[in-house]
Amino acid sequence: MARRTVLTGIKPTGTPHLGNYLGAIRPALALARDPELSAAYFIADYHALTILPRPEEVIDQTYQVAATWLALGLDPARTIFFRQSDVPELFELAWVLACCTSKGWMNKAHAYKARVAENQAAGVEDLDAGINMGLYSYPVLMAADILLFETDLVPVGRDQQQHVEIARDIAQRFNHVYGDVLHLPEALIPEEVAIVPGTDGRKMSKSHGNILPLFAPARQLRKAVMRIVTDSTPPEAPKDPDSSSVFQLYSLLATPAQRDELAARLRQGIGWGDAKQALYELLDDHLREPRARYDELMADRARIDRLLDEGAERARAVARPVMDRVRAATGIGRR
Ligand code: ADP
Ligand code: TRP
Repeated sequence: MARRTVLTGIKPTGTPHLGNYLGAIRPALALARDPELSAAYFIADYHALTILPRPEEVIDQTYQVAATWLALGLDPARTIFFRQSDVPELFELAWVLACCTSKGWMNKAHAYKARVAENQAAGVEDLDAGINMGLYSYPVLMAADILLFETDLVPVGRDQQQHVEIARDIAQRFNHVYGDVLHLPEALIPEEVAIVPGTDGRKMSKSHGNILPLFAPARQLRKAVMRIVTDSTPPEAPKDPDSSSVFQLYSLLATPAQRDELAARLRQGIGWGDAKQALYELLDDHLREPRARYDELMADRARIDRLLDEGAERARAVARPVMDRVRAATGIGRR
């Protein structure tokens, strides 16, 4: 039997953070090492345009995301690793899929609904104000990303589950109309890291400004850890480990023995400052080597380009026959 395909993408917007690592990159890298699976991971650069970032930002953050994956252990010999924009077949497929997508599905998509809710809360009369068609229809482009590679599994955080379900719905609609061409994907959401908390206790997200950056210099990382919001229990008072994001974050990286030890210390009564110091040290241990590799990669963009170019060739070799089948099924192109 052919190996099953696992695929995921990360947008080059904002600084790569611990939530991206624990929620998306670490589980994806574990899957890529599974000999039963073949992995394709990419930088979703065209997705970043929905917020119209400055071109220099797109360029810089594309390299940052690429270097992040590579520094954390992606092996480009095993995993097809590419830039979305290097695979033009994706945009052909996106149009075909748009024609199989009900407008009502897009009305219900989270990213769009969140923006409408913001407008509503701000008392703006036109609820669609400031919303471009890229943002509105981006689940279609994401469906193309997934379906073009005949993906079985899509490792993502909980916030992306709906988009994977939309991709599945679109594929079903296509297959219903044109015959069994597209392969149905499934989201893969590692439960324990479905929502990694940020420094303010909400979901860690670049849009909330509450991140722990992966590759900032050690001092900056420490500062961010010290900013994690805790309750005002006095230092010597016993604390419930499970109610704090300091302990939750610690647990996501610690061995079981380390975790039990910090839990016991908190229950006995240590200050939050000490718990944060323990978290910082654990993080720094994990990130020291990747940080050095990241800095090396960022200083050699030509190397990143070479790897991504090779990845794009392999990606297109997979994509072309699928797109050919889609064109044949839909009656597009000469016979
Ligand atoms: P952000 O929320 O900071 O904008 P992205 O939307 O670019 O991050 O997310 C990239 C990947 O990382 C996605 O698969 C997303 O589900 C995952 N991810 C981001 N933040 C978290 C988090 N706090 N917990 C778990 N997964 C996350
Ligand atoms: N939309 C995803 C995010 O915001 C990124 C993404 C784009 C993606 N295309 C994808 C994730 C395909 C998984 C599969 O995080």
